[in-house]
Amino acid sequence: MKTSAVVIEKYGDSSVFNDQIVDIPELKSKQLLLKVAGSSVAPFDISVREGVFKDDLSLDMPAITGTDVVGTIVNKGAAVDQFEIGDVVCGMVGVKGFGAYSDYAILGQSKAAKVPKSMAIQDAAVLPMTAIPAYNTLFDLGKLVSGKKVLIHGGAGGVGSMAIQLAKNAGAEVYTTASPRSIEDLKKLGADKVLDYHTEKFEEVLSNLDLVVDTVGHDTYKHSFEVLKPGGRLVSLVESPDEELAEKYSVHAMYLSGKFDNPLSKVVKLVSEGKVKLHIQKEFPLNAHGVKDAQDYYENNHVFGKVALIK
Ligand SMILES: NC(=O)c1ccc[n+]([C@@H]2O[C@H](COP(=O)([O-])OP(=O)(O)OC[C@H]3O[C@@H](n4cnc5c(N)ncnc54)[C@H](OP(=O)(O)O)[C@@H]3O)[C@@H](O)[C@H]2O)c1
Repeated sequence: MKTSAVVIEKYGDSSVFNDQIVDIPELKSKQLLLKVAGSSVAPFDISVREGVFKDDLSLDMPAITGTDVVGTIVNKGAAVDQFEIGDVVCGMVGVKGFGAYSDYAILGQSKAAKVPKSMAIQDAAVLPMTAIPAYNTLFDLGKLVSGKKVLIHGGAGGVGSMAIQLAKNAGAEVYTTASPRSIEDLKKLGADKVLDYHTEKFEEVLSNLDLVVDTVGHDTYKHSFEVLKPGGRLVSLVESPDEELAEKYSVHAMYLSGKFDNPLSKVVKLVSEGKVKLHIQKEFPLNAHGVKDAQDYYENNHVFGKVALIK
């Protein structure tokens, strides 16, 4: 079977995308074949296109990129036992997999969650790459529970805006950093205090926190140690642990990695109950032109939430 897909034949800028007809690989026993309805732009997708990870994760060219996926199951491997043909599911496609920027994509059943009819396809298209890292960071590594205090850097980003809502929903006291234009919207999402990172030094305002979620890195990462209580946790999505600072401030420093249970179904439920909202700043068509325009838009604008790609 063949499909039309958005492929790259070399690493580079956004001009590398083109539409091609390619073979669909044979399904493995626990994989789903999806007729794709949507995807998103994640910072990770841009780094993959640029070849940032090519030493550790080199792609076989031509390659289909795109990590977030939502679509209808049209075929499934023999050992798939959680989903049926016809189900609409969303999930995260492996980077070396048959990516989401395509008419058909392949998704492992362990990376998928069923999308209820009440949920917008646009929301499901941008959910996995925000929900999974946010949930793993807050709860699996951050051990966040009700009543604890958490600072989430980059609150207006895809991961940050999701993390604020998940933390608030879990009963935490939530602080965040953002640009001034996002402050009111982040309060509406539930943030108790929003600090303008251009004019306020969070390390001079906050102290004695249980958890910091770092989506920014560099100096933001380094100063985050100062606001934690001894025994607190600093989970970064971008920086490897600085063991010297961790010892100096007696805190646990971690980089987001590891194998965790897939939390996507739990977050899908929160979205369909209206307890968590996705903000989609702009939508583009899911074809080579659309992917190029969407990634350029993401890189040249301060996006609040996500950019969606829809068939
Ligand atoms: N390790 C993992 O598994 C994993 C998983 C997911 C994501 N990530 C990484 O996590 C990072 C965030 O992802 P994302 O999807 O949320 O990105 P995003 O949507 O681009 O959001 C980044 C946010 O950071 C804000 N920001 C920039 N500088 C800041 C500063 N000094 N202080 C506070 N906020 C600042 C930006 O706000 P302005 O636009 O106002 O500047 C923007 O809202 C990316 O680097 C991504 O690659 C890692």
